Amino acid sequence: MKSLKHLFDSNAAWASSIKENDPEYFTRLSKQQAPEYLWIGCSDSRVPANQITGLQPGEVFVHRNIGNVVVHTDLNCLSVVQFAVEVLKVKHIIICGHYGCGGIKASLDNEEHGLIDNWLRHIKDVVRFNAEQFEGLEHDAKVNLLCELNVKEQVNNICNTTIVQNAWKQGHELSVHGWIYNIENGVLKDLHTCVSSKIK
Ligand code: CO
Repeated sequence: MKSLKHLFDSNAAWASSIKENDPEYFTRLSKQQAPEYLWIGCSDSRVPANQITGLQPGEVFVHRNIGNVVVHTDLNCLSVVQFAVEVLKVKHIIICGHYGCGGIKASLDNEEHGLIDNWLRHIKDVVRFNAEQFEGLEHDAKVNLLCELNVKEQVNNICNTTIVQNAWKQGHELSVHGWIYNIENGVLKDLHTCVSSKIK
């Protein structure tokens, strides 16, 4: 069996270069994590949360799935949100989609893809909720529009979870942001859908 030695070599080089600059780095980080941000993004390998935001290990708690979807019955995503909000007490939740998303493209076509079609169903719902906005658009424009509308829908979904609602009721400082990333130029864009708690 192949052991993927090049990845272990690369890891050893990375760990020693960090220790060279900052000998206490891993000791310090191992004691606790205190990220201010929860990132919910797409699994796409081109959209790594830490790299595109310049955040270091320990600075962002991450959940990724195909199409950056927040489903009300997804115990995996909800558990991440609960831990991030109630235990880590993150101040910002970022839902980040990206243009050219394969999950979004697949949600717009009528082909069968197997099991994943059940997951994409949630994104197809976003098309149904906003059907009139898609009328008359070219295919690429439809994909881009759905990439953005899907982020806005997931912002709504996460705001309506009991976890975020309770955090706001208890007066916690917590904002939910909707962003989109352009894989063609590496630039993040704020969709200006930020929802915040009322700070008393
Ligand atoms: Co994607």
